[in-house]
Amino acid sequence: MSIPNAKFIWFNGRIVKFEDAKIHALSHCVQYGSGVFEGMRCYETHNKKRNIFRAVEHFRRFHQSANTYYMKIPYSIDELIEATKSVIKENDFKECFIRPWAGFGLGALGLNPKNNPVDVVIAAFYWGKYLGEDALEKGIRAMTSSWSRINQRILPTTAKASGHYLNSMLAKREALERNFDEAIMLNIDGYVAEGSGENIFMVKSNKIITPPISSGCLPGITRDAVMQIAKKYGYQVYEENLTRDMLYHADEVFFTGNAAEITPVVQIDHMRIGNGTPGNVTKDLQDKFFKIIRREIDEFNEWMTIF
Ligand SMILES: Cc1ncc(COP(=O)(O)O)c(C=O)c1O
Repeated sequence: MSIPNAKFIWFNGRIVKFEDAKIHALSHCVQYGSGVFEGMRCYETHNKKRNIFRAVEHFRRFHQSANTYYMKIPYSIDELIEATKSVIKENDFKECFIRPWAGFGLGALGLNPKNNPVDVVIAAFYWGKYLGEDALEKGIRAMTSSWSRINQRILPTTAKASGHYLNSMLAKREALERNFDEAIMLNIDGYVAEGSGENIFMVKSNKIITPPISSGCLPGITRDAVMQIAKKYGYQVYEENLTRDMLYHADEVFFTGNAAEITPVVQIDHMRIGNGTPGNVTKDLQDKFFKIIRREIDEFNEWMTIF
C-alpha cells in the first residue's frame, strides 16, 4: 500500500485535512516508537450499510496496549467509535481500513514521558488485500523467519505497540527478499508464534489448531472470531503449541488478521501444504466469515457497529 487515499483524518479530537495531521519530529513516539495502534476494517453489508467489524474489541485492546505502557488515552471506547464513524463518513467511504494510533507527544525527550501529551489519530483509507489481490483465493507462500518473535520477558507481547513492529518488519522484509509472501515467526523456545502481522492456524484431520497466547502471539481479534465461528459450525478447535514441522505436515494452514482476513498458506519453506491449494476447511471458514461480516448470516450481532 502506498500513501493512504483519504481526504480527512481525525486528529486529537478534530477532523483535519490529510496533509495537516502532523506531529513534531522530536515527539517521544517518533524518537522511541512509544505508540500503540490498531487496525480494523469497515465493510459494506449486503443491504448497503457500513459495518465496522469488532470495533469495541479493537478499541478495548487499544486502551489495554496503552495502559501497559503507562499511557492514558483521553477518549473512551464509545468516543473513539463515534470518531471513527465520523472520519469514515467525512471521507465518504463505504469499505475502508481504519488505523487508530496513539503515542507520546512532544515534551520530555528522555525515557520518562509521564508528562508528555498523548496524541491520538484515527485514519480511514482504502486498502485492498494485504497479502496480494488473489491471496484469499489462491493462498500465499510463507517462510520460517530467522528472527524470533519478541518474547514476554522483554516486551509485553499482548500489546500492539509501534516499537514492537521493528521485529515484524525484519521478518517481513527477509521473507520478501527471499521471494516469499510472508514470514512465520517462532518464539525463542522454537514453537510457532504467528506471522509478521497475522495469527496462524493449522487444520489436521478436520481439527483446527492455533498456538496459545502464551506462545507470544498477539491476541488477535480475527483469531478469536474464527475460533468462535468454527466452534459454532461444529469444528473442534484447540490452542496448542505447534512446531514448524507440524505445520509442514498439516492438511491446511491459514493466517488470520484484520488486514489478512483469512488467507490460506499453501507453501511453507520448501514444503507444499496439503495439495498446495487452499483447503476445504479454510474455504468454509472464509465463506462463513464474510457472510457474517456482510450480514448475510444473522449471527454474532454483538461484533458489529452498523451505521
Ligand atoms: C503481530 C500481529 N499478529 C496478529 C495480528 C492479527 O490480529 P487481529 O486479528 O486483531 O487483527 C496482527 C494484526 O493486528 C498483528 O500485527
